[in-house]
Amino acid sequence: MAINVREDYSLKNLNTFGIDVSARYFIEVSNLYEINQVFEDSRFLKCSKLILGGGSNVLFTKNVDGLVIKNAIKGIELVDEDEEHYFVKANAGEVWHQLVMYCIEHNYAGLENLSLIPGCVGASPMQNIGAYGMELKDSFKELEAWNIKDKFIQKFNKDECKFGYRESVFKRELRDQYLITSVTLKLNKKPNYNINYGALEKELEAMGIQDLSISAISKAVCAIRNSKLPNPSEIGNAGSFFKNPEVKRSNLEDMKTEFPNIVGYELENGNFKLAAGWLIEQCGWKGKTIGDAGVHKLQALVLVNYANARGSELLDLSNQIIKSVNTKFGVELEREVNIY
Ligand code: EPU
Repeated sequence: MAINVREDYSLKNLNTFGIDVSARYFIEVSNLYEINQVFEDSRFLKCSKLILGGGSNVLFTKNVDGLVIKNAIKGIELVDEDEEHYFVKANAGEVWHQLVMYCIEHNYAGLENLSLIPGCVGASPMQNIGAYGMELKDSFKELEAWNIKDKFIQKFNKDECKFGYRESVFKRELRDQYLITSVTLKLNKKPNYNINYGALEKELEAMGIQDLSISAISKAVCAIRNSKLPNPSEIGNAGSFFKNPEVKRSNLEDMKTEFPNIVGYELENGNFKLAAGWLIEQCGWKGKTIGDAGVHKLQALVLVNYANARGSELLDLSNQIIKSVNTKFGVELEREVNIY
């Protein structure tokens, strides 16, 4: 069957910021056969290609003068188990939160802290999604990806993905060279609860939870997220716009003399991660708007599109924030969101 190619296709409903740009060509792929067809198609051999999942970590600043491929390969399957683990393979086009819910229903433990993160399964390893003390890499076994240049499916194990804080090889060295088709997770038969994150512990207490379970943790995570992160279906946003910056202990100590309330968490390497939300708030940005672009009123790390902001306006706003944080604290914020 011929693939359905759309021209000058609006991406407004395909990015959670709700930015109104269009793609010169747009194709949705649902299986490997279609992927192969797209990459063999003579019309697209020379044009730039952008792979889109849930569109929850991108900011479009202009129309895309090339081909946008929406990865919509569906399916979740238990592929193996051993004494302690279940191995679940999820295809890239599945909605991340639905995979989390599937695992909770089947009592496969490990993803509960990552409840309600917007986006698709295929994008989850790109930036090693994380929240409330857990990251994708903690439950990751392997992934399969289409090698765009050589046209075959390649497997990557955990080491090969080079996961870091909101980082992977697919965001760096191998950027735009692969289309992730599936992710296999290694989940626990016996849950290994992680409720060290202060807000999570407090929420579970407030919910009056007596017997901890993966379902209770998931509910608590959803409640926290709903209370401070804007719902992309109501207000355009892409979650945290910046990463939390890492500084040396000596830097933090210097900063503490001037800013005794600065929020920092010690890392395994002895450095400290600063709460970028706090830094941005201290610079007076929380709740500010410039036109339709703004800084969320409950979480300063999240930039929002209240209606019809352009991507370039949000980018400008982010540059102003980076500048003022640098001036006040001498710390350079790095964007987490991918800019196109
Ligand atoms: N804070 C402020 N003002 C703000 C926001 C935060 O002072 O406007 C301070 C508070 O002291 C708070 C601390 O920062 O205790 C940490 O805030 P929060 O718990 O909201 O977490 P975060 O560090 O701002 C990170 C992730 C989120 C993730 C949460 C929970 C990054 C870039 N962001 O945010 O991930 O949900 O932790 O684990 O690491 C995302 O990546 O899109 C995302 C939402």
